Amino acid sequence: MAELSIDIGGLTLKNPVMTASGTFGYGAEFDDFFDLNSLGGFVVKGTTLHPRQGNAYPRMAETPSGMLNAVGLQNGGVKYFVEHIYPNLLKYNTHILVNVSGSTVEEYIACAELINELEHISGIELNISCPNVKEGGMAFGTSCPAAEAVVKAVRKVYNKPLMVKLSPNVTDITEIARVVEANGADSISLINTILAMAIHAESRRPVLSTVTGGLSGPAIKPIALRMVWQVYNSVKIPVIGMGGIMNAIDAIEFFLAGASAIQVGTANFIDPMATQHIISGIDNYLLRHKFKSISDVVGCLQL
Ligand SMILES: Cc1cc2nc3c(=O)[nH]c(=O)nc-3n(C[C@H](O)[C@H](O)[C@H](O)COP(=O)(O)O)c2cc1C
Repeated sequence: MAELSIDIGGLTLKNPVMTASGTFGYGAEFDDFFDLNSLGGFVVKGTTLHPRQGNAYPRMAETPSGMLNAVGLQNGGVKYFVEHIYPNLLKYNTHILVNVSGSTVEEYIACAELINELEHISGIELNISCPNVKEGGMAFGTSCPAAEAVVKAVRKVYNKPLMVKLSPNVTDITEIARVVEANGADSISLINTILAMAIHAESRRPVLSTVTGGLSGPAIKPIALRMVWQVYNSVKIPVIGMGGIMNAIDAIEFFLAGASAIQVGTANFIDPMATQHIISGIDNYLLRHKFKSISDVVGCLQL
């Protein structure tokens, strides 16, 4: 086997394949399919300070080469996570990150403080795609001052690796990436879903209850690749890429664009074993192309 381990901002992953938040539950849902310790790491569902019911149904829809979702961060809240979910995670021997979301900076801080106490959680993935209710609902991740405020505040209370997940729904992803880096992020993950909508012509109604939702899957891969490449060329901290990765060759494209690790999202719904095929396929690519280590491939796109 080639050397698959890689460092991503304070975390050493045994291989560069993680799973994406919201597509992998709390891990246990996949226990019957494969040994989760084979993953470089996994990111659990979006967690908020208070419990959230999520949006009304329908909140998922299939689209050409993709899916739309508007789940709305349904979760039991961070206290429920600490009491009922965390104990089940202690058995795993891989990196587990908690994806943290909030509607105000104060909510993010309170959530991060509680997660800071959890020894077996390797880091936070800070989801800044949520609407900032105090500032008129614009997502934290779509304005530089809002991104700065939330990352700086969480950095002050959270002592372990902080990965910040960017929203693609911006004009210039590089300016947000630079702000996030300057305010203490250890790594950057991207992309979250792309704002989109679907319409049912016969009923003349939107398909989702929320009208708009987030697009994921192969349809967004070219956009995600472009953004990973732009961010890789704009910051020094490691980049974790995702968006439409269905197989090992998709993953390799992200490494070439500059990702040090990748996350698999929508593919988990189609094939629960997708990550396993991707890990072995990456190894196969490295051997075929005579790369000794995955780190040799990162950013080696030939222009
Ligand atoms: C059903 C669903 C739920 C999601 N929930 C979250 C979430 O709670 N937090 C988050 O940061 N991203 C969430 N995402 C976004 C994914 O983690 C990922 O960024 C996105 O789907 C792109 O990757 P993919 O094309 O491989 O799915 C969700 C995506 C889907 C499809």
